Amino acid sequence: MRGRLISFEGLDGAGKTTLSRALAGRLEAIGVRVLWVREPGGTELGEEIRRWLLATSLRELSPMAELFLFLAARAELVHERIRPALQEGIWVLADRFWDSTVAYQAFGRHVVDAERCLELNLLATGGLRPDVTFWLDLPLEEALRRKAGLPGDRMEQADLAFFERVRDGYRWLQEREGERIVRLPASRPPEALLDAVWEVLRNRGYC
Ligand SMILES: Nc1ncnc2c1ncn2[C@@H]1O[C@H](COP(=O)(O)OP(=O)(O)OP(=O)(O)O)[C@@H](O)[C@H]1O
Ligand SMILES: [Mg+2]
Repeated sequence: MRGRLISFEGLDGAGKTTLSRALAGRLEAIGVRVLWVREPGGTELGEEIRRWLLATSLRELSPMAELFLFLAARAELVHERIRPALQEGIWVLADRFWDSTVAYQAFGRHVVDAERCLELNLLATGGLRPDVTFWLDLPLEEALRRKAGLPGDRMEQADLAFFERVRDGYRWLQEREGERIVRLPASRPPEALLDAVWEVLRNRGYC
């Protein structure tokens, strides 16, 4: 049986890594084979692109070049790792995927309009979309509180209005694709979020 592709989305600090790692553990405990990947990254090219994109000194990268770097990293990740894993029945948990580009590059940075961005995503992934996406929706103040004290990378030093636009982008996506994208109130405790995710997967007959 083909594996499932599950992505985790939300603002910086929303809890994507915490939740996706916890789900990986719970799935492995019932014998599901899991591949956890992060974006950008997960391949040699992708990790190189990640270093480029997150370098604090890299302030002058043009927004369009940035968009295509994210898409290139994703194309490579899908080709090298995600498709082969899914074909082997492995579940892929993606810490950011598809929707981040729409939220950050289209809504946040206005590099391209949202519809066009969706087309570019389809092109980059060869039509592969997540089976289900968990959007960890966290009020901006709370996201900032969680990250307080940690040194921000280049992507995190943008202004508050930018993050509000990103959140609007996630909201737009969720309204458009309510079947695929499940909104989770991210201020709930980690165990409650994991249980909520598990219930969605059970209800869909995935596990
Ligand atoms: N449900 C939760 N409730 C309270 N704190 C949480 C919750 N989930 C994660 N945290 C804490 O919030 C911080 C950010 O969590 P995490 O790294 O999982 O977020 P992230 O979405 O992966 O962030 P980034 O986009 O920066 O990678 C961590 O200190 C983590 O321990
Ligand atoms: Mg993370």
